Amino acid sequence: MNDARRNKSSGSRIVVLTGAGISQESGLSTFRDADGIWSQVRLEDVATPEAFDRDPARVHAFYNARRAGLLSGEIIPNAAHTALARLEREWPGEVLLVTQNIDNLHERAGSQNLLHMHGELLKARCLDCDGVQDWLQDMDLSSACSQCQSVGSLRVDVVWFGEMPYHMPDILAALVECDLFLSIGTSGAVYPAAGFVEEVRHQGRGHTVELNMEPSEGSRLFHEAQQGRATELVPRYVERLLADGPP
Ligand code: APR
Repeated sequence: MNDARRNKSSGSRIVVLTGAGISQESGLSTFRDADGIWSQVRLEDVATPEAFDRDPARVHAFYNARRAGLLSGEIIPNAAHTALARLEREWPGEVLLVTQNIDNLHERAGSQNLLHMHGELLKARCLDCDGVQDWLQDMDLSSACSQCQSVGSLRVDVVWFGEMPYHMPDILAALVECDLFLSIGTSGAVYPAAGFVEEVRHQGRGHTVELNMEPSEGSRLFHEAQQGRATELVPRYVERLLADGPP
């Protein structure tokens, strides 16, 4: 890490992107692995605005089951989540964590500088007042908005296919500024997240590293790609970073 570069970078020196793979060893299913969520249910039936318009009860039931699972007490952050929280603690203000995941495992591990680009399972948004609120119980057509009290106007605050992810301007600015882009546990199948490595390579200057169980669709675009379990690779990589400093 040369000092001149350090002085220039005004944003986070390290941008970390996570996907469902980082939560897999905590007991949450991924989407595209053999037993993944999209092998059990069609995303067109539960994860698009059209699906919600067509059959809101079915969409509510899909997310109610996932919310109950997350809150069951058996799902806890794993060593990969805690390693990223440690990195942020040791290098305050230098790490931005962007997750595609809608679970709350990064928060529970202690990460704070965190952007949920696909929203959050434990939040609801009101279609009448656009108010966002914490939501920890089942949601259905009788659920009332805690801000405007309207009934039946709530949806889970999750970004569905065909909708614009959250926080994109901040994310893209951070990608151009960063010195290190670390992608963990994502198949690189869904844009815009799948294009972040190209953003860094073409617009930025950062070193790019992928830690994933298997080669992703974008592995060849990274300077470095390691295959393995997140709970082994991430703590080891964080140890190395803290010892040597970002490349
Ligand atoms: N350690 C590391 N990587 C793992 C592990 C593990 N224990 N288990 C699975 N993986 C890897 C898989 O090899 C796969 O490449 O994690 C990746 C998960 O890929 P997906 O299931 O496609 O999940 P993700 O990349 O997060 O999906 C992106 O697609 O369906 C939408 O909105 C949804 O946010 C999601 C987005």
